[in-house]
Amino acid sequence: MGWTRWPRRSFQPRRLSDSASVSSGSGQVSAEAKGGPQGSLGRRPSVSRGLAGVPAACPCPCCLALKESEVAKVKDPTRLPRRRAAGTGQPEPAAFPRGGARPSPRPARLRLTRPRRSLRAFAMAFATRQFVRAASSDAATAAAKKLLIKHVTIIGGGLMGAGIAQVAAASGHTVVLVDQSDEILKKSTKGIEESLKRVIKKKFADKPEAGAEFIQKTLKNLTTSTDAASVVHSTDLVIEAIVENLEVKNKLFQTLDKFAPEHTIFASNTSSLQITKMANATTRQDRFGGLHFFNPVPMMKLVEVIKTPMTSQKTFESLVDFSKAVGKSPVSCKDTPGFIVNRLLVPYMMEAVRLFERGDASKEDIDVAMKLGAGYPMGPFELLDYVGLDTSKYIIDGWHSLEPNNPLFAPSPLLNKLVEEKKLGKKTGEGFYKYK
Ligand SMILES: NC(=O)c1ccc[n+]([C@@H]2O[C@H](COP(=O)([O-])OP(=O)(O)OC[C@H]3O[C@@H](n4cnc5c(N)ncnc54)[C@H](O)[C@@H]3O)[C@@H](O)[C@H]2O)c1
Repeated sequence: MGWTRWPRRSFQPRRLSDSASVSSGSGQVSAEAKGGPQGSLGRRPSVSRGLAGVPAACPCPCCLALKESEVAKVKDPTRLPRRRAAGTGQPEPAAFPRGGARPSPRPARLRLTRPRRSLRAFAMAFATRQFVRAASSDAATAAAKKLLIKHVTIIGGGLMGAGIAQVAAASGHTVVLVDQSDEILKKSTKGIEESLKRVIKKKFADKPEAGAEFIQKTLKNLTTSTDAASVVHSTDLVIEAIVENLEVKNKLFQTLDKFAPEHTIFASNTSSLQITKMANATTRQDRFGGLHFFNPVPMMKLVEVIKTPMTSQKTFESLVDFSKAVGKSPVSCKDTPGFIVNRLLVPYMMEAVRLFERGDASKEDIDVAMKLGAGYPMGPFELLDYVGLDTSKYIIDGWHSLEPNNPLFAPSPLLNKLVEEKKLGKKTGEGFYKYK
């Protein structure tokens, strides 16, 4: 036994007044109940097919709720009084609207008796109500269960890690920034202080005291450490921003997995590696996702929130909320190489390097061309230096190993040479260009 098909003609929105205007006893219907003032479809109203006075066929929750209320009113719809035929005292045959044809008989197996129909309507209404209730309570429970991230541990105090630490601390989170040596961490903290000074110049241009307070508060929220394992015991979120190397990242996550509490969410800021592979190195695949910030973090508004097939909805929503809390605009993407931005951007930068390698144009002219011709704020070589040539090389090498025949992912001898010479871009003072 399957569901009886609802007649198509009855799928019309109905107002509460529609049913009121239906003459329940006689089966006479108002023009509105016919489907609008004009009875536009010229079809027979559903009154003849459902409970007396209740349009029977629309299965939408509001119509079903309406029907249910009518069920309560009309205890036994099969016993509705029929009009007496004039002079005979005998019940008149059920009337149909003037001009309306009698309903075409349905196949016998689909025809339901009135009590059965009323039962069906009631069951549908009940099921729909239960479904709506369950759905809304699921959403409420998910929202209630979302993790409010307050304490953040950031591993890697380089370009990205320091930037993420800055925006997280500035937005009131308590942050521990971790790197391999105190020397690196001193450099990171100095960089953050300088960046904060730039921020207050804009944000608190005419309120220097408020600006100084902002810096003080932000730095108060920030501490540093060289021992990740010892600081993750009370953290809500670990964001990894270390070297773009899967083995190194996996090793770090494996270690932290042993020391971090159960509720802690792990996230990687990787530009190009598979989040799923990192999640699989831990025992918390459902509490693992990608949080891909952009450089420079304090300026760039975007965060790509990456959901693997194992990332729970709660984790995903907590990461989205965290991104918003640090003042960013999150977009979501599946765990696909390069996510959204880099999948488009990296092949473009590599094509610029190939153009230069072939001697078709100078790097300076390529940069000028893309800035003035395409309206990009930076040329591809300036951007490569900014991102870091080692990071760019890791990305392209990784993709090349996945798809060796894809010409967009072909490695560049020039990029490899610069990385070998430790000319990594702005961060080392030299890349494609020299920086003081
Ligand atoms: N540079 C960008 O524009 C950019 C943008 C988005 C995402 N990312 C990603 O962010 C990550 C970091 O990139 P970055 O540019 O900040 O690199 P970076 O080289 O500037 O910084 C990496 C830092 O991690 C530290 N580190 C390395 N291994 C460590 C470990 N085991 N424990 C603690 N610290 C460790 C290093 O000492 C270094 O300070 C990479 O995964 C990269 O793909 C980079």
